[in-house]
Amino acid sequence: MVPKWGQFLRGRAAPKIMDASIDKSRLPKHVAIIMDGNGRWARSRGLPRAAGHHAGMVAMREVIRAADDVGIEAITLYAFSTENWKRPIAEVQYLWTLLEEFFKSDIDELVERNVRIVFIGNTNQLPDYTQGIVKRAIDLTRPNTGMVVQFALNYGSRAELVQAVRSIAEKVSRGEVDASCIDEHVIASELQTCGVPDPDLLIRTSGDQRISNFLLWQIAYTELYFAPEMWPDFKRNHFLEAIRVYSSRERRFGGLK
Ligand code: IPE
Ligand code: IPE
Ligand code: MG
Repeated sequence: MVPKWGQFLRGRAAPKIMDASIDKSRLPKHVAIIMDGNGRWARSRGLPRAAGHHAGMVAMREVIRAADDVGIEAITLYAFSTENWKRPIAEVQYLWTLLEEFFKSDIDELVERNVRIVFIGNTNQLPDYTQGIVKRAIDLTRPNTGMVVQFALNYGSRAELVQAVRSIAEKVSRGEVDASCIDEHVIASELQTCGVPDPDLLIRTSGDQRISNFLLWQIAYTELYFAPEMWPDFKRNHFLEAIRVYSSRERRFGGLK
């Protein structure tokens, strides 16, 4: 029986930021999120790490809803890295259980919202049952035309780049690609994120300011936003505040204003 820790979430006030304060013409199209701090959230409450992950799932649901409501086109959620296998097996298994719980409870709403679910990362290394959940979520939302929710599961940017380089090298050795024709587009098209534009905004919660092997190629010109809140405390209004900060920034891409 998986315990529920939802009662610890009730009554937490987040700063009031009205949607009206966001300049809709300067919204990020694609927001990527490193959902960090579940363990510390739990520890500070004397709870097991699993409780933090459960609360993190609740936060994830709220942020997906907020992103869809505000009109974000794509959101990428870092849920499990290639390095997270270093954690105790019980914690890793609990994360798969949570994923299953999330898709069971939320898939109908996501379908109703016209959300399309995609995955990056080597999901073929996940337990069979989890792979079934992944496949079902993709299949059920394939025809949808609304916001893309991209889950990074067993994702590592270096692993992704290694696979891309191998694939290109194989094409060159088969004579399908001329080495002199390899450019940024060719490399981007070999990445697992192919088809989804680079993130405009990357949010990391928990106060840690690092990238942890997430979308290294794709974030070349992404705006970075580090939030001090632990992920389970990151509510709709915190998300909207990140969007508001983004909309006030000036992006130059190496050029001049
Ligand atoms: C992020 O929270 C969730 C995953 C990496 C799966 P953590 O579990 O990393 O929480 P902290 O960083 O230990 O607080
Ligand atoms: C990054 O968080 C991965 C996810 C949020 C899934 P980690 O907690 O694994 O990152 P480090 O170890 O603090 O860099
Ligand atoms: Mg962490």
